Amino acid sequence: MTELNIFNPFNAPVFHEETVSSTMDVSRRLAAQGRAHGTVIAADFQEAGRGRIRGRIWEMDRGTGLSFTVLLRYPRMNDIPAALTLRAGIAVSLAIEDFAPLLQGMVKVKWPNDIMINEKKAAGILCEANDGIVHMGIGINVTQNGFPSHLRGKAASLLVNSGQLSMNIEKSAQDIKFCLLEKILVRLYEELNAGKSGDWKRRMEKRLFKKDEQVLFMEGAADSGMEVRGRLAGIGEQGELLIASDSENIIRSFFNGELVLYK
Ligand code: BTN
Repeated sequence: MTELNIFNPFNAPVFHEETVSSTMDVSRRLAAQGRAHGTVIAADFQEAGRGRIRGRIWEMDRGTGLSFTVLLRYPRMNDIPAALTLRAGIAVSLAIEDFAPLLQGMVKVKWPNDIMINEKKAAGILCEANDGIVHMGIGINVTQNGFPSHLRGKAASLLVNSGQLSMNIEKSAQDIKFCLLEKILVRLYEELNAGKSGDWKRRMEKRLFKKDEQVLFMEGAADSGMEVRGRLAGIGEQGELLIASDSENIIRSFFNGELVLYK
């Protein structure tokens, strides 16, 4: 494990490994060693990268994406910011727009943890919490030129969507990713220190994917079969999804579930 020489506003080390099982596992080890709030572990390749939905893997060709986990310590449960995953989504979206200005206004957050560009997923966020520690894992497709057939039409990369990423072509792929990582840490630090309430909900709703559109939502587990159809009305105080359902003519809130895009 090497320590990267990049700016981390959390004032904690940013580690890098070529290959890991999952940066979530490494982050847990770093936590057990007593590493500080804001410590980061980034990897070029994860042999067992995981997604939010149980059993789903997070796959990425070696070196094409940015995969990392931020270790966040909240000794008092009450200090954990509300809607942490969504707020991380705001930070990642802003950082992508800082990084690739051509994408300004195009980066959306699909509830609860996906970052979308042109209706396709460019990044995902996974927060795992226990004993006052949150491991915030973030995976971003950066330099992929294409995707395997099962992801085609569903996945986006910053390279494909922003043309040339508005960046110095001389830079190595690794430098490009670390530059993006730095921008994400800056935005994440700002977001997490914006005060408990802040105005994250308003900012979130501005970039909420499918806001005010008709959606199909699968309540609970991905295979629950409990379909809800209605208008995506917004986000509640705790980060829950609000849907004005067609059948009951009321606004219902959901803490678990997934918006269905491909059926
Ligand atoms: C999702 O879209 O379901 C969440 C994907 C999260 C992927 C990141 S990559 C870094 C960290 N390590 C993992 O194993 N998963 C997260």
